[in-house]
Amino acid sequence: MVEDILDKKKNGVMFSYEDIRSIVDGYVSGEVSDDDMREFVMYVYENELSFSEINYLTDVMIKSGEVIDLSSLGKVCVDKHSSGGIGDKITLIVSPIVASLGVCVPKMSGRGLGITGGTADKLESIPGFKINMSRKSFMKALDEASVCVISQSEKIAVADKKIYALRNEIGAVDSTALIASSIMSKKIASGADKIVIDLKVGNGAFMKDLKSASKLAKTMIEIGKYYDRKVVCVLSDMNVPLGYNIGNALEVKEAIDFFDGVYEKRLYFLVVYLSSIMVSLGKGICFRSAKKLVVDAIDSGLARHKFYEWIKYQGGKISKFKVDADSVKVLSDVSGYINSIDAQGIGKLVFDLGGGRVKKEDSIDYGVGVSLKKTVGEKVVKGEVLCEIFYNKKVRGMEKRALDAFVIGKKKRKEKSVVIKTIK
Ligand code: URA
Repeated sequence: MVEDILDKKKNGVMFSYEDIRSIVDGYVSGEVSDDDMREFVMYVYENELSFSEINYLTDVMIKSGEVIDLSSLGKVCVDKHSSGGIGDKITLIVSPIVASLGVCVPKMSGRGLGITGGTADKLESIPGFKINMSRKSFMKALDEASVCVISQSEKIAVADKKIYALRNEIGAVDSTALIASSIMSKKIASGADKIVIDLKVGNGAFMKDLKSASKLAKTMIEIGKYYDRKVVCVLSDMNVPLGYNIGNALEVKEAIDFFDGVYEKRLYFLVVYLSSIMVSLGKGICFRSAKKLVVDAIDSGLARHKFYEWIKYQGGKISKFKVDADSVKVLSDVSGYINSIDAQGIGKLVFDLGGGRVKKEDSIDYGVGVSLKKTVGEKVVKGEVLCEIFYNKKVRGMEKRALDAFVIGKKKRKEKSVVIKTIK
């Protein structure tokens, strides 16, 4: 059946809704084999699809599982999604900030795949944190705390879960049609009618260049319109890791530090930017007014209070939280200015230390990672500490790999903003 549909397409006939439905539903039910699905996915990966075909794929994936109705909450809900990056702990920080301002944040978060980390894994590094919750408990948490982050339910966008694992296995990830339908099927099924997507661009992201990221953003916005959802895409830089820490527990530690007033400047900028967009959408106010509320919530401790309330609500015991690993410091062998830090290089190192997984069943080591002690634009003197590697099992050449990720020049390079552009 898959072969016939692909033959038809190769002869210039567009996929019909029924073609895509029969392949995707057949895969979920087991009638379509992994091999046939691989062929379909590879075809889409290599040839791309028209907008109508992407819409069909998204619709079929939405209908492959449950669709959550958040209207009974009677609250404005704004969802946020990241397309995946290195050191991306944004959800841990933005969600309580936005919730502290009365905008509800219902979040379904994924696990790390490839070298990009997943929020669900990061939160599970906090002892006791419950990431798997029933729909009833999810709704109760949103009602009482206005923020709840759960892992992708077995019941939501079921086809996406299955297809995503297959894509990861065959390396068919960076495709507009596949990413747009994957992200948007989950977002539409999760129920929020306002969605902010942090679309990462650079060597540590799936979208390596601005052109392909912009195309993806426009496709997701169009899908949103079809379902009457407002989608805003923020294209942000992922050539350099975000913040100081990369690794599950280390990133939770950085979120704690953030609310204690210690933050890396690019991270702070992106947090304030994304939170302000979410608050402006949620409250129907302009970006400037929303930004003022966001900065006040951070400075006054209101957001910090919500962060601890949220973690406790989901069972997390911050008092028992620790970064469980040995560490070694990496020193600079030259003096100069940090012009760049290779996100992909650091991401791969953390992955090899045990911080990521290839298959979804793989276990990960929460304690491992890299903590940057210098960031882009800073001056460094030979012998100074550039970063600290947290490990439980040494990886051959790990210090050299971390050192090589730092691009140090004689002159200070003009710094680029972490936010590249916003597409609405
Ligand atoms: N995030 C998703 O949810 N799906 C993709 O395909 C890529 C990133």
